[in-house]
Amino acid sequence: MAKLTIYGDVQLNKIPKEIYGHFSEHLGRCIYGGLYVGEDSPIPNVNGMRTDVVEALKQIRVPVLRWPGGCFADEYHWRDGIGPKNSRKKMINTHWGGVVEDNSFGTHEFFELCRQLGCQAYVNGNLGSGTVQEMSEWVEYITFDGVSPMAQLRAENGREAPWELPFFGVGNENWGCGGNMTPEFYANEYRRYQTYVRSYHPERPIQKICCGANVDDYEWTEGVLKTCFRHSEPELHGFMDGLSLHYYVHPEGWKSKGSATEFDREVFYKTMYKALYMEHLIEEHEKIMDKYDPERKIAMVVDEWGTWYTVEPGTNPGFLFQQNTMRDALVAGLTLNIFNKHSNRVRMANLAQVVNVLQAVLLTEGDQMVKTPTYHVFDMYKHHQDGMLVKSQLETEQIGSGQWQIPNLTESVSLDSQGVLHITVTNLSAEDSFPVEARILGRAVREVQGEILCRPMHAMNTFEAPETVRIDPFPQTELTREGLRFTIPACSVVHLAVK
Ligand code: AHR
Repeated sequence: MAKLTIYGDVQLNKIPKEIYGHFSEHLGRCIYGGLYVGEDSPIPNVNGMRTDVVEALKQIRVPVLRWPGGCFADEYHWRDGIGPKNSRKKMINTHWGGVVEDNSFGTHEFFELCRQLGCQAYVNGNLGSGTVQEMSEWVEYITFDGVSPMAQLRAENGREAPWELPFFGVGNENWGCGGNMTPEFYANEYRRYQTYVRSYHPERPIQKICCGANVDDYEWTEGVLKTCFRHSEPELHGFMDGLSLHYYVHPEGWKSKGSATEFDREVFYKTMYKALYMEHLIEEHEKIMDKYDPERKIAMVVDEWGTWYTVEPGTNPGFLFQQNTMRDALVAGLTLNIFNKHSNRVRMANLAQVVNVLQAVLLTEGDQMVKTPTYHVFDMYKHHQDGMLVKSQLETEQIGSGQWQIPNLTESVSLDSQGVLHITVTNLSAEDSFPVEARILGRAVREVQGEILCRPMHAMNTFEAPETVRIDPFPQTELTREGLRFTIPACSVVHLAVK
């Protein structure tokens, strides 16, 4: 019997809804065909945005969307994507498949998409190959409300009022595709570029996100923070609001990666093992951040995470299109539980990527759309958004295959503004169910409603069978004197709403 203790009267911190964020890059069919089909498309759309995709994303309450990359961001010149579409510059998308990028989706289209989704914008600027002036003018173009050259240009392009820009990234992966910089060089560039990312409206400040490390590159985190906080001047705190972290799960290693759909039991557990490594990474980078920022004013922003496999056979290798199974659903469930539990430092995360790329929540083909198992996890976990993290503890046992030993269960708990307690649990075992006895301290339990995503590890949704993996009701929860009792089936994600 797994013992879960929920300290119902110990609320730790708010779980920022931005942890449930997504990422859209000019990569493969993420933007073109996935989010945007253009006004003249026979596929139903509003101002060019696919109606089916927008509706599905609204359902999971996407809180924030990152754009335009990724590696694409440091080669993107925003002026190419404004003005009449027929005169927009065409360019080669050198990073992703060498295809022609016609810039028909640019700044105005991105903000229109955010409007339709009702989400916040996270724009990633070009530090690798763009100038300080270019970055500064983009921010002016987006946000300035008054008389200025960029505000006038925006108005000439049909948009009088400025947009809201809550988050701005100052470069992406500048240790690699964003310029191959050393931590010290990047940090000095960051100091310079961010100076001109001006918050023209102090009541709506732009949160500036500095490029952080890849995986376990602690030298990068240390080097960047050391250079940025060289004089420890208190005012420097205003110049960095977030530091990013990127971590992808490649079950077979970076080179061969492995198939998204064909894997054995050992690779399944290896995937879980590697996904759980996220917690260690957060804790280790956190230790370095705590040295420079003990009050935790700077957010850790995991703005790229997810599974990354070999592309589906017959698809463009530069498009990073992969299927999504119950294995991915478990990776999503366990990772979001980790983020919730570390949400006093991790305050934004963006799954890579929202449609048709890597661990996508939606896949499209022509006018068809399918919700992946990962989508359903975001649907069940949306109740944690902006809730209060509640202290919880779970006694687990080790399971796995060979060296890939992992805890059988993971969990997180939050309290929403209506006083409902939300418990999410993942059972990472491919074959065993486990009874769970939950003690809920400090509050009475009157009623519980459950839902579950539970299928064998290879199960997936396809265009032919889009409902193979879906959320089912989970009524098998018994109220006890101290809380709840239930048995969590193998390979499943459960959400319990407790009143
Ligand atoms: O998400 C795909 C790519 O992965 C992004 O463009 C880049 O930032 C990362 O290396």
